[in-house]
Amino acid sequence: MRLILLAAPGAGKGTQAEKLSEHYEIPTISTGVILRTNIKEETELGKLASQYINDGKLVPDEVMIELMEKRLGEPDCKNGFILDGFPRTIAQAEALDNSDIDIDKVLSIEVPDEKIIARLSGRLECGKCGTTYHKEYRKPQVDGKCDKCGGDLNVREDDKPETVKNRLNTYHQQTEPLLDYYREKGMLRVAEGQEEIADTTAEVLKALED
Ligand code: AP5
Ligand code: MG
Repeated sequence: MRLILLAAPGAGKGTQAEKLSEHYEIPTISTGVILRTNIKEETELGKLASQYINDGKLVPDEVMIELMEKRLGEPDCKNGFILDGFPRTIAQAEALDNSDIDIDKVLSIEVPDEKIIARLSGRLECGKCGTTYHKEYRKPQVDGKCDKCGGDLNVREDDKPETVKNRLNTYHQQTEPLLDYYREKGMLRVAEGQEEIADTTAEVLKALED
């Protein structure tokens, strides 16, 4: 399965990608996690990306396209992958179409903006492996520590309310047009993302059946 997850910030892409990775036994490639790792390690990419991420804007297309063409060519992607956060613009989708990487399906997880604001205001993320938690909806077993790798849980820099507003605007303007783009190609599947995490996973798996 070569799958794109397309959803608003905070709709649960990362959370569902984790479940789908286990289900299909394929890796998740999360552009957000890659960029945040680079920011933490203070690489050139990290320095460039942080200027955009902290304003809720997108990192330039040419940077993302080059990064992803390289990443998707690595051996662990041979048997399929889940893309969490790419493509996010028509230019990125066109670059993917023009590459030799074939995509099977595109899944949209639909959650209204009001719900997203509540989700992002309680989110915690592992600084080591990128797994996300929530203060109310998905508590870690040990306060402040990742269940998977024991890493410290942090509040993401771009989860401040003003930045969340900008991220939602950016999504509606630049990423939402991809829904029609993939619908016209017959690749789009839609899942309701308002329910609890496990119920959403059931919706997601059902949407991917056909
Ligand atoms: P990225 O890291 O991809 O952020 P995002 O798209 O804004 O999405 P999030 O990670 O915030 O949300 P999510 O859908 O993964 O939600 P999660 O599962 O955590 O990108 C960050 C930035 O990097 C971008 O703004 C951009 O600047 C840059 N970037 C990345 N890719 C790029 C690209 N291709 N081009 C250009 N720039 C790029 O869930 C959210 C919270 O809700 C969690 O706390 C979770 O526990 C909880 N939750 C999840 N599901 C449920 C549920 N069903 N019920 C209750 N709570 C739930
Ligand atoms: Mg995420």
